[in-house]
Amino acid sequence: MTAELKSALLDVYKRMPVKIVRGQGAWVYDESGASYLDMYAGHAVTSTGHCHPHLVQALSAQIQKLVFYSNAVAVEHQEEAAALIVDELPSPLSRVFFVNSGAEAVENCLKMARIATGKQRIVGFEGGFHGRTLGAQAATGLSKYRKGLAELIPGHTFVPFGDATAVAVALAAGDVAAVIVEPVQGLAGARTAPPEFFRAIRALCDQHGALLIYDEMQTGFGRTGSFTFAPRYGVVPDLMSFGKGIASGLPVGAAVTNEKVAATIRPGDLGTTFGGGPLASAAVRATIEILRSEGIYAQVASRAPRLRQALSVFPSVAEVRGEGYLIGLKLHGTAASMQRQLFDRGVLTGTSDDPAVLRLMPPLTLNDEQIDHFLEQFARAERVFRETSKVPS
Ligand SMILES: Cc1ncc(COP(=O)(O)O)c(C=O)c1O
Repeated sequence: MTAELKSALLDVYKRMPVKIVRGQGAWVYDESGASYLDMYAGHAVTSTGHCHPHLVQALSAQIQKLVFYSNAVAVEHQEEAAALIVDELPSPLSRVFFVNSGAEAVENCLKMARIATGKQRIVGFEGGFHGRTLGAQAATGLSKYRKGLAELIPGHTFVPFGDATAVAVALAAGDVAAVIVEPVQGLAGARTAPPEFFRAIRALCDQHGALLIYDEMQTGFGRTGSFTFAPRYGVVPDLMSFGKGIASGLPVGAAVTNEKVAATIRPGDLGTTFGGGPLASAAVRATIEILRSEGIYAQVASRAPRLRQALSVFPSVAEVRGEGYLIGLKLHGTAASMQRQLFDRGVLTGTSDDPAVLRLMPPLTLNDEQIDHFLEQFARAERVFRETSKVPS
């Protein structure tokens, strides 16, 4: 026995120096009771805020009746949750397959695309991120995340994000089942592309008989001020992957598609033990009910521009990227040091794969008063950041 306390956990996460034990709305609290404004939302997950009363009520009611039963039977809340999602989606997206995480949702989209087209290759984008399981990792354009076995998985081509000509070349090589894109590349620093790029890749996919997959893990469920990024610019994908905010914090993902693709999927082609269990489905259902009843999309659409505009005037901010409440702040300095300054002032934020981009992904319920509080703390943090990073005023 050693006197030293050794962690039994595998050391894979760079963690903020705090343990969060309680949350309410946009606020979280540590063991000592100290409060933090959560501009990170547990990585864009707690979409309806922490412990929303409607979510708590729905989960409490379900957990007392039945925690779990598998898809061997009809599962309570699952049909209703899927119907609510479909109701919010642009036509012709109409079918939902529930899974347990974002990566799994991506994997099932890739699989459905291969089944539906009979083709194998996947075209992805430099800077894209789709998850840590092997198939999702293999489709990830950020090369450092492909390290390990995913590099050995054949059939993946990566082209620059925003470059429709490169997509055309990749499709012309043949055998492409799908083009997969994050409409706003989150991990790459909330980067997006112009409308004509999205229209062009839609047309190119149709021309070459490939399917278009939108990975809406971060953009979906209201974060950009509408349910999903699609049908922005008149573009609707054939498949869509969801996770993160879909269940306000329960581990849920969903792969969504249209009738044409669904018609090619047979019983047994896809499956999962836990996906869409009663508790998970109750959480999805409650999340959409909250988004609707509180008019959250409109709130994000109206509040986010003020926050983005206010941030853009700070001398340390080179650019405000992203859409709605998916914000990438390109800084004149390192995001990790701004993150620390904000943390010291009771604000949680995220970094990104770009060392200069700080990510803000608050609960979608973030209100005007909380925005004011954040901007006050940001102004204080930014003054120190400016001095230490030697940013001209
Ligand atoms: C765009 C995107 N796709 C997929 C994933 C993977 O989701 P999960 O970590 O739930 O597997 C993430 C996670 O950060 C993501 O941002």
